[in-house]
Amino acid sequence: MSLSSQSSIHGEWGSRWAFILAATGSAVGLGNIWRFPYVVGEYGGAAFILVYLGCIVLIGLPVMIAEILLGRSGRQSPINTMRTLPARYGASQAWQILGWLGVVAGFLVLSFYSVVGGWSLAYVPFTAAGNFSGAETAVVEGFFDDLQASPWQLLGWHTLFMALTAFIVVRGVEHGLEKAVRVLMPVLFFLLLVMVGYGMGAGDFAGALEFMFTPDFGALSGEAILVAMGQAFFTLSLGLGAIMAYGSYLSSKYSIPGNSAMIAGADTLIAMIAGLAIFPIILVAGLDMQQGPGLVFVTLSYGFGQMPGGLLFGTAFFLLLSFAALTSAISIMEPATAYLVESRGWRRPAATATVAGAAWFVGIGALLSFNVWAGYELFGLNFMQLTEYLSTSIMLPLGGLLIALFAGWVMPRAFSEKELAFSDQRWYRLWLLLVRYVVPVAIVVVFANTLLNP
Ligand code: PFF
Ligand code: NA
Repeated sequence: MSLSSQSSIHGEWGSRWAFILAATGSAVGLGNIWRFPYVVGEYGGAAFILVYLGCIVLIGLPVMIAEILLGRSGRQSPINTMRTLPARYGASQAWQILGWLGVVAGFLVLSFYSVVGGWSLAYVPFTAAGNFSGAETAVVEGFFDDLQASPWQLLGWHTLFMALTAFIVVRGVEHGLEKAVRVLMPVLFFLLLVMVGYGMGAGDFAGALEFMFTPDFGALSGEAILVAMGQAFFTLSLGLGAIMAYGSYLSSKYSIPGNSAMIAGADTLIAMIAGLAIFPIILVAGLDMQQGPGLVFVTLSYGFGQMPGGLLFGTAFFLLLSFAALTSAISIMEPATAYLVESRGWRRPAATATVAGAAWFVGIGALLSFNVWAGYELFGLNFMQLTEYLSTSIMLPLGGLLIALFAGWVMPRAFSEKELAFSDQRWYRLWLLLVRYVVPVAIVVVFANTLLNP
């Protein structure tokens, strides 16, 4: 029996579909529907989208393959995987940094992810109560502003979101979730398509297409490129060990490259559809494209308020968005939780409560940055912007860089080639070229470029 055919102490996915659904559940979330449109709006549209798509294909997909490969080879939590694998290949124990970096990034990501997940929960009753039916843009914007202005409301929703996440993680990642992902994700997709249809009829669809697909590269700053790259990592759940942990529960029977391509493809499709649903409404309603994190909540609740059946569609939409956010949040918690269970001998509920509690606490800083702490800035960024930027744009690409280097240079070629089992040798060589040279060089160049021309 080879090492990689042993299974993890935390269990193993029941089938190939269980892994695909869990990993897709991790990938598809607020990153696609909340963050993608708002950063595209902020950084100017098509040129940003093209850089983002380039990053998905040339950096994200090869790193995803590498991250799953590391997880499945180590069969432990990311921290311990990054202890075991270097020892197995006679490499430095300094690689452990990768595991710890991921855990820290995970806390930061989860802290603001839960705050925004809380907004999504809040919009379920907001919409169901008919607040947005026929409402003017000012009214819809007022709802978002009022929510942001109230630390107690934000805290309540943030707490509820984090508690729901912890509850699911305690029960173990598989139970019931597979079925829910299989049913609810397609419904969310359908509702986005309804919105696209609405945008075609009642929105400025032509304007949206132009905004999304006619690039003006002159307007692209170094920072925009960094943010686009960070968004590619964020949306694919890469660089912090979430996909590594899920990969460690994947039986060696299943193909890593094929599954990775499916997950990345589904994620990209949903982000693009979300853009097509949102931008036509922004343009026709004259909403502020650069308003930042509130963009999607304001735009879609305005759109639902105008369309026939919007009360039902809108309520269902925010419910499903909350669900999509939960299936992502549980994956962010998995690396640290698995580590506490594995190395510290904690019971799963205690480990989960600790991880959730710590991220919940950091999240308070994020929600206060919309009101009480709004005046406090560092480098022109408030607390939430700072944690979002640091984790998404810096730490995730850094994690991805280390993953690519480890898979490309430390793992023996014979091993990775056999494990990945590409149908064609040429694909393997392409992957190796990407993780060895293209990914590391691209990440270093983008980092350097941002430092030199911010
Ligand atoms: N990929 C998730 C999304 O797009 O919403 C967010 C995420 C999940 C980021 C897991 C990082 C992670 F490890
Ligand atoms: Na995503």
